[in-house]
Amino acid sequence: MDAPPKIFVFDAYGTLFDVHCVARIHAGALGPAWDRFSSVWRTKQLEYTWMHAGMGTCRPFRDVTRQSLLYALAECGIEPGIAPVLLETYQRLEPFPEVPDAVRRLKSAGATLAVLSNSDPDMLDDLVESAALGGVFNHVISARSAGTFKPAPQVYALATEAYGVAPYAIRFVSSNRWDAAGAKAFGFRTVWLNRRALPDEYPDFPADETIADLSELPA
Ligand code: LAC
Repeated sequence: MDAPPKIFVFDAYGTLFDVHCVARIHAGALGPAWDRFSSVWRTKQLEYTWMHAGMGTCRPFRDVTRQSLLYALAECGIEPGIAPVLLETYQRLEPFPEVPDAVRRLKSAGATLAVLSNSDPDMLDDLVESAALGGVFNHVISARSAGTFKPAPQVYALATEAYGVAPYAIRFVSSNRWDAAGAKAFGFRTVWLNRRALPDEYPDFPADETIADLSELPA
């Protein structure tokens, strides 16, 4: 087989940045349902993006995130007054512990690194800057310019367009199995970052590699 491509494109939420840190940080104020709340928030946020992609509509990721947050608070019986504080923390999600070293190591080994996310350009810039990873990624690509959300192929195409390469020249890394499936359907070489040792799914769209954390990524 050919040598693996040296262009790495990373999903953001759940892959580089821990979406559940918000509820953990504010667990005291959220109360005993904080864990379930976090899971409902994330699930609904994703569902809303898939709905827009399927319906041919689009909204800023910030709005999708806020609407899913309000739903999750309501479902879990938590006072909605806490929403602005949670959204503020969402702007500065913590990277997973191994991420800064792992991406810097790939970069020093000569790899080209980008982010490709359903989020808005300004939200992504804030995330990357607050984690001090600004110099590591030479493209931070938002689905916004495609007017839809992953897993629509137009979004993955933003990365091949950015580098002027065929899909298989890109190694796409995501912890979201649905995203790795969408990327595989598009033609990327895919790496499923299975942080939580989940069972595999989407057997028709298998990942080319599966790793447990980013430090396993060989340059
Ligand atoms: C992202 C979310 C969906 O695109 O994980 O970053």
